[in-house]
Amino acid sequence: MKNVNEQKKYNHLLLDNKVCVIVGGGSLRSIGYATAELFAAHGAKLVLLDLVMNEEKAKEATNAIASQIGYTPEIICIPCDIRNTSDCEKAIAEAVAHFGTIDCLVNCAGIVKSEGMLSITEEAYDLIMDVNLKGTFNICQSALKIFAEKQAGVIVNLSSLSAQRGGGLVGGTHYAASKGGVISLTKAIAREFAPKNIRANVICPAMIETSMLDGLSEQQLKDVVSGIPLQRVGKTVEVAGACLFLASDLSGFTTGATIDVNGGIHIH
Ligand SMILES: NC(=O)c1ccc[n+]([C@@H]2O[C@H](COP(=O)([O-])OP(=O)(O)OC[C@H]3O[C@@H](n4cnc5c(N)ncnc54)[C@H](O)[C@@H]3O)[C@@H](O)[C@H]2O)c1
Repeated sequence: MKNVNEQKKYNHLLLDNKVCVIVGGGSLRSIGYATAELFAAHGAKLVLLDLVMNEEKAKEATNAIASQIGYTPEIICIPCDIRNTSDCEKAIAEAVAHFGTIDCLVNCAGIVKSEGMLSITEEAYDLIMDVNLKGTFNICQSALKIFAEKQAGVIVNLSSLSAQRGGGLVGGTHYAASKGGVISLTKAIAREFAPKNIRANVICPAMIETSMLDGLSEQQLKDVVSGIPLQRVGKTVEVAGACLFLASDLSGFTTGATIDVNGGIHIH
């Protein structure tokens, strides 16, 4: 039989009152939204950032979360283009002004384009890099200013299987390169900021059921699924679960790690 203290030890929500900034939850089908919902269910206060965030999307996300967790979470939604440093600075400042601080950043914003190396224009290359790599750098830098000051904080970035296996099932070489950069960036943040009690980890998903898979034909999807050891595509909540682990104290001794959420498609 457990004593009272031991019982208390497990009697809490994983992110109780933690202020979590989640980027890229602009659509209810996205990994960012699923992460926001799961974090709210674990007691987090939410700051949702997205390029497409507006009043209607904010209401939609808030209502959807409330209907899933049974009450309206503490939440603010801010339009933010992570390509733009001042947008990132303003969004983090607004979050701090509203909640007093931020504790966690999960960056799920990203864009993908499938095209052959020889067809990629300079403009297309710059766009992918600007959103996926520079954008991740920008929002991490803005959050890290707060984390460094308080000597605490957690970052979770989203990379991709394509960064690990030389291109993806979806996405061209520019996408793979941008996501490789996200892994390196996250590892370098982890090393530089570990002495300040800040952790940073990266998730490499593959074949998760979001709008990113909309470009695949039914046959293409079937072919891909047949190559996935778990024989199905992934659910957004299954990536959100990895985010929850990495954002919470459960992963307190984990930093600089790359976590695969890919149904076993890349076992290495
Ligand atoms: N779905 C998959 O199978 C899969 C596989 C590997 C990696 N990923 C990665 O996971 C992350 C989430 O993907 P998803 O499938 O939920 O995609 P999604 O398209 O559903 O969501 C991405 C969100 O990012 C937002 N965004 C785009 N540009 C932005 C910008 N400049 N500033 C702020 N927000 C911006 C979009 O508006 C969108 O809401 C992405 O980084 C993606 O590359 C997804």
